[in-house]
Formats: sequence, C-alpha cells, structure tokens
Amino acid sequence: MNASTETRPTLFGIPTEAYLSADYAKAEQDRLWRKVWQVACRVEELEKVGDFVTYDILDDSIIVVRTDEQTISAYHNVCSHRGRRLTAGCGHAKGFKCGFHGWTWGIDGQNLGVVRKSGYGEGLSADDIRLKDVWVGTWGGWVFINMDPDCQPLLDWLGEVAPLLNPFEMEKMRYNWRQWLHFPCNWKVAIEAFNEGYHVLGTHPQIAVYSDKPTWSRALGPHGNFGSVAREGVGGATAGAAGAPDMRIGLAVSLTQIWEEVKATTTEAMVKIAQNLVNELPEGTPAHEVHMHFMKRVIEDDAKRGVFWPKIDPKHAQEAGTDVHVFPNTVIIFGPTFALCYRARPDGFNPDSCVFEVYTLERFPEGQEPKPENLHKPEQTLEHWPKVLLQDFSNMGEVQRGMKSMAFGMARPHPIEEEAVVNFHRVLAGYMGSGGPVEL
Ligand code: FES
Ligand SMILES: [Fe+2]
Repeated sequence: MNASTETRPTLFGIPTEAYLSADYAKAEQDRLWRKVWQVACRVEELEKVGDFVTYDILDDSIIVVRTDEQTISAYHNVCSHRGRRLTAGCGHAKGFKCGFHGWTWGIDGQNLGVVRKSGYGEGLSADDIRLKDVWVGTWGGWVFINMDPDCQPLLDWLGEVAPLLNPFEMEKMRYNWRQWLHFPCNWKVAIEAFNEGYHVLGTHPQIAVYSDKPTWSRALGPHGNFGSVAREGVGGATAGAAGAPDMRIGLAVSLTQIWEEVKATTTEAMVKIAQNLVNELPEGTPAHEVHMHFMKRVIEDDAKRGVFWPKIDPKHAQEAGTDVHVFPNTVIIFGPTFALCYRARPDGFNPDSCVFEVYTLERFPEGQEPKPENLHKPEQTLEHWPKVLLQDFSNMGEVQRGMKSMAFGMARPHPIEEEAVVNFHRVLAGYMGSGGPVEL
C-alpha cells in the first residue's frame, strides 16, 4: 500500500490526569466507587448462612453476608451509634455486635439491642438504627455490590459481558489460588496492564514462541474485551501453540510453559495430556486434528475425574476471545474450566499506590475444592509469584513514574489492539465528568 491510499485510523490520546492527579483520585470516591457495581467476593466465600466478607473501598466498607440459603445481603459496615466499623475481614457470625458500646444486629440488618435503650425514650426508630442496605447481585459466581440506591440492575449493567461468558459456566468454578500485594502505581495502570494483549511480545517474549500475531480489542458497552487472532477455541494457553510446525509438540511446549510460568489459564490435567500427544498421534498429523484429539482426550479424562466441561460452541469461544475487563476494576482471563482474574483497588487517596489481587478459578471434582486463603505476597520473586506475572508487575511502578516525566504528554494506545483501554477511559470520564480520551 502506498502512502496516498493509506488510511489513518482514529487515534486517541489518554491524558495523565486520571492516573496522577490527587484531586482526581479523591473525586473517584463519590463519582465512581459510590456509583458503580463492583466485585466484592465470590459466592463460595458465603457458603453457610452467617458467612460474611468485609469489602473495603476507600472510606466505605460493606458487609456482604449470606442471610438464607437463597439470599446474600449487603450493608454499610458502620455502627449507627457512634460510627465504629462492625466487621473486618471475613468470618461467620450469628449477628453483628459493635465492639465499642455493644449494640447488636441480626444478619438481616435489624437492630436487636441497644444498651439501656430506655434512655433514648422514643428517639430511636427501627429504621434509624437498622444497618443501611447496599445493593447486591450475583453473576458467574461473583458477588457484586453497588452503593448507589438508584443503580441499574446488575445484569443490565453487565450487558454483553453476561451472554459472552455465560457459556463458560464460571459459577461452577472455585478458587484455586489467591494472592495480593501493593503496587506503586495507580489502580488503573495495574488493571489496564491486563486489559490488552499488545504487551505480550514486549513483556513476555518467551510466550510468543511460535507466533506473535496481533490481538484484537473492543468495547463491550462500558466493559472491554480482547482476544488473540491465533486462538483456536481451546482456551488461553493453546493459542500459544498456533503456528507450531508440529502441533503435538507445540501444545506440549506451550501448555507446559504456561503452567510453569503462569500457574493458570490451563490445568495440570491438560498439561499431562498435551505432553503425551507425541505418543498418541503419528508425526505429520494436521494441526486441527491434533487440536480435536487433544480436546476430546481432555474432556473425556476430566469427566472421569468428575470435572465436566461446559458445551461451548467453538465459534462462540473464538469470538469471546481471551479476556474481559468488567468496568471498572476486574479482569477475567477465561477458559472452559479455568480462569485467571485480577482486581485492582485504590490504596487510600494516594494516586500512586494500589492494592492488586490475583486469583485463579478452576472447575474441581465435587468435594475437592481447595478453598485457599488470600495470601499477602509483597515479595516479587519467583518463590512467591509465577514468572509471567512478575514480568507484568515489573511495568507497574515504571509506568507510573514515567508518566510524570515533563516529556510525557499523553498515552497513545494502539488503535486496534488497545481499543478496550481507550473505551475504559471514555466510560470513566463519563462517571468523573472530566478527562477522557482526546482525539489526536
Ligand atoms: S459505636 Fe457502636 S455501640 Fe457505640
Ligand atoms: Fe502480561
């Protein structure tokens, strides 16, 4: 194509305000976090009536609690007497008792006891001292909360994300491992690093062994989605084998590597089968036949151990891509029986710091779910984190510091491969009433 016929895509720049401004970070509390649906926990953390999780976001704290077999409720975590927080972390409770003057509530949020209540006369109505309700919704095994009394229903908010991911039956997956740490960067820098596949060649060159094909990226309403053009419908790791001269070896090499270096986006059972493909199939078996054989073996073997694969139309799997960003702060890299997920939250009102959580989900045989603790792992070493994640982590603080340079004007996201990042800032600007992508 010569210069005269070349088309210029629409380019957007992202100003640094949303990442660096202390005023912006402060304003996010009212304009964003108090308005938006956000992941509080997974349903599996609230198995029995009375199980609760405390979800903290800036100045707000929410108690999410199972109130009966069918119902999960959420309340602002604050005592209506003098404002003490009632819970911290997670646990199991028959009710909540304030640690200061001993007022008590049932898990249904009704006040059950005010010490020497008669002194208040008629001055305390049940409504005054009930725990303040927060909207709660579940989808895909996640529990979402929304502090905005006028928010839209969760499923409306999720929009296209739900039909895209529903076939993966993520509600049947359970935690495999969970770890968290702080990064010296804005929460958006952290979550965006997992909202595009454009960085793979630069950050993880070793996982682009057979090909470095481009990724696609798109908006899904307020959310984002990207995928690999090389993906062939088996989930995350198999895309790495695309282009291998011998697909038997390609799958074995790429899945083994992903398992060793990511500890996610595939399963140990799949790796074993991939490693045995050279013994099961003759040399020269065409790539798509290797894929089909691999899939069949994996599904059969998993069924034998009690892990049942969802039926996903291969066309749908391809169109669904690799990764979904659920606005504002959750990213899900999904496969048929596994997922790798991230949640980024601000660390107070400091725009230069965030809390970053990583967890994997997997479908397990019933009764064999590991129920892992959420481990704080501040040490960024191979002993504590998989190699590929450490590679991602190495960019965080460097981006935050780099953006402060007097020579840096705006981020210049790739118009095709980072469209989801541009969309994120477009939607964010809608909430914040300022900033947002600028057409270049
Ligand atoms: S602050 Fe809770 S009972 Fe006084
Ligand atoms: Fe990465």
